This record gives sequence, structure tokens and C-alpha cells, in this order.
Amino acid sequence: MHADQITQEIRTLLKERNAVLLAHNYMRDEVQEIADITGDSLGLSQEAARTAAAVIVFCGVHFMAESASILSPDKTVLLPRLDAGCPMADMVTVEGLREMKARHPGVPVVTYVNSSAAVKAESDICCTSANAVKVVNSLPDREVIFVPDRNLGQFVAAHSDKTFHFWDGYCPTHERLKPEDVQRLKAEYPDALFICHPECNPAVSALADHVCSTSGMYDFCRTNPATRFIVGTEAGILYRLRQESPRKEFILASPALVCPNMKLTSLEDILEALKRMTPVVKVPEEIRVPAKRALDRMIAIPR
Ligand code: 13P
Ligand code: SF4
Repeated sequence: MHADQITQEIRTLLKERNAVLLAHNYMRDEVQEIADITGDSLGLSQEAARTAAAVIVFCGVHFMAESASILSPDKTVLLPRLDAGCPMADMVTVEGLREMKARHPGVPVVTYVNSSAAVKAESDICCTSANAVKVVNSLPDREVIFVPDRNLGQFVAAHSDKTFHFWDGYCPTHERLKPEDVQRLKAEYPDALFICHPECNPAVSALADHVCSTSGMYDFCRTNPATRFIVGTEAGILYRLRQESPRKEFILASPALVCPNMKLTSLEDILEALKRMTPVVKVPEEIRVPAKRALDRMIAIPR
């Protein structure tokens, strides 16, 4: 089937099913193009919580669809590719987190949304890359357990006077970006600003002019007078950066910055999901209720 025809069928089915199509900023260009709303993890979870649609088609990875199901239990949440996971989310287990809590009794657990619903259910509060510093600093406690991303954790620790207990998780995609890659590009383009995601290694973040979430990058590049940016996050971000600022130049900091999971979902997968109304992601109530508490506490903190 031709791409235009697939797009047309998706549009028709979205209307028929009273469905909204949410897509993360790393999705393939053609998926971002057809989405009703694109955004970062925080923006998409807020959207999932307030949408009036009966069905949410979540183009992202598994933990994002779980968050939508946690926040909107009465809606049907479709994840067109059930195999789209997040290796960092899989690095922390409920058992492991319980052991860590036992080693630090009474210390609150701050959990990055890149985690399973079951791990969120064991946590006091969630955070995303967009609000992690605010979330941690909102807590009255002097110590925090931070899971699973050690890189985001270290970035937050640098902006907080609390004592951190880190989990040793990381994003394999962002970890592939090396300081040498950035230094080489900075030497080649001395006028360029370097922006990166806090999932990058601290040695990379230390070289950045600005460290922020994916949606934070759009705001920064749109409003900053610079005309050339070296971009340290997943390649999918380039689509909207270039659309929003066609006269500016965006250089991916490394060709290795491609998340295979974020690239799985195709237009065909979306069409199939809408036709068959599957695969559905549904979080069981005994996990959903405590996980929602941790997400709600996060959402209550202004962006
Ligand atoms: P954002 O919350 O910045 O969109 O990032 C999500 C993610 O998976 C980064 O790798
Ligand atoms: Fe997970 Fe990294 Fe892919 Fe984001 S880019 S979904 S953190 S593996």
C-alpha cells in the first residue's frame, strides 16, 4: 500500500475509534508527521492523563504506554509494537529495588519514568528528564535513592545538595556518545553550541552548553540566536528541530545515536493496531494504584 493511502486509512480509523495518536520525539519522521501530539515523556504522560479520547495509540516504548494506562485506566492503550522496550527500564527489577530500600531504610525512592510499572509501584515519586531536578529538590529529605539512570542521577546530584544512592543503570544509546566525538565536532564547527540529554555520560554532559529533555531542546534551539547546534541525543529529534528552524543547522553528535526500539514502529504497524485494536497495554490494578501515586506526585510539580 502507498504511504499516502496508509496515512489516510490511519486518519479515518483514528476518527472512527475516537482515538488519539501520541508519538515520542524519537519516533520515525513519518510517525511524528502523522501524530496528533508529539512530545517528551513528561508532555506525553500529561497528555495521556487529560485526553478525552477513548483510545490512545502510543507510538513510543513499552514503559510510556504503561504510564498512559496507569493514568487513564478507562481508556484502551495500544502500543503498535509490543517488542518496543527500553533496555534501561529493564535494568532495574522490583527485587533489586527492594534490596536497595532495605539497605537505606526510610530514604525516598525517586524513579525515572524509564522504568516498569511494577518498579514505579515501589517508588515514592517519579521524574522525567524535564523535571528531575525540581522533583528531587521538592523532597524534604536529605537523602534519596535514584533509579535506574546513573547518568541522569549524577546530573541531578550536581544541582542538589542531597546525598544520592544511585542505581547503576544507563541508556545504551546515549552511552555510545563519547567526549571525543563531541570534541572533534566542536573543533570542526567552533561556532556551534553543543546540547545534550542528561542520559549522556557525565563526561559528555560536562562539554554541553545546555543539558535538557528532548522537548527542552526544541525550546532552546528555537529561541537561541545561534545558527548551528551539535545535538547529543537520539537521531529522531532532528525531524522537528529542522522543521522548526529551517535556517539553522543541526549536526548529530554521533551516527551511533539511534535507539533501535524507538525506530521499530512503522505506519503499517499503527494501521494494523487500529484495525485489530491490539496489542493493548493494561497495567493490573494492584500495580497501577501505587504506581499512579508516584506519577501523580510528579505531575503535581509544575514543569
Ligand atoms: P525525554 O523524556 O527527554 O523525552 O526522554 C525519553 C527517553 O527515552 C530518552 O532516552
Ligand atoms: Fe530507552 Fe535509551 Fe531508547 Fe530512551 S533512547 S527508550 S532511554 S534505550
